[in-house]
Amino acid sequence: MKTLVIYDSVFGNTEKIAQVIAAALGTNAIPVSQADAGQLGSLDLLVVGSPTRGFRPTEGITHLLNGLPKYHLAGVRVAAFDTRIVLETIDSKALRFLVDKGGYAASTIAKMLQKKGGKLAAPPEGFFVTGEQGPLKDSELERAAAWAGKLMAG
Ligand SMILES: Cc1cc2nc3c(=O)[nH]c(=O)nc-3n(C[C@H](O)[C@H](O)[C@H](O)COP(=O)(O)O)c2cc1C
Repeated sequence: MKTLVIYDSVFGNTEKIAQVIAAALGTNAIPVSQADAGQLGSLDLLVVGSPTRGFRPTEGITHLLNGLPKYHLAGVRVAAFDTRIVLETIDSKALRFLVDKGGYAASTIAKMLQKKGGKLAAPPEGFFVTGEQGPLKDSELERAAAWAGKLMAG
């Protein structure tokens, strides 16, 4: 099975999740800066992940996915994940409300992948950090490996 994990990461947390997912899938995790749109159309499974920043994925991920030709992912199973902050760690009540209601990167990524013809292999998933720069919440790496396992089975 030809599989690839593409991710963006500012502080390294999404990278850690991406690497665990890639290891579980027996493939590589490639930073978006090194991703080549041409590689993506011939895959069986494409997994894309980003930190949630301002309720959405990073510029790098958005640029790559929006730039793919129409139907480029036809026949490719796709899955999306993000990292996001544990709501309870946000001190400001107003900001907590906004982050809760604002949405997360994974669902946007999933929509972008589907718009290019990809078929969703699993619902978008979020993995938690306990501060803006991390670290990841306990056992998120294990949860990521389990999520990847479901992608293979699905
Ligand atoms: C500018 C900025 C905006 C952020 N916006 C959100 C947000 O809208 N929702 C959220 O849950 N977390 C938000 N966060 C927390 C990030 O999700 C967190 O920094 C990220 O998961 C860390 O992943 P990384 O180490 O791969 O960069 C934001 C962080 C920064 C620095």
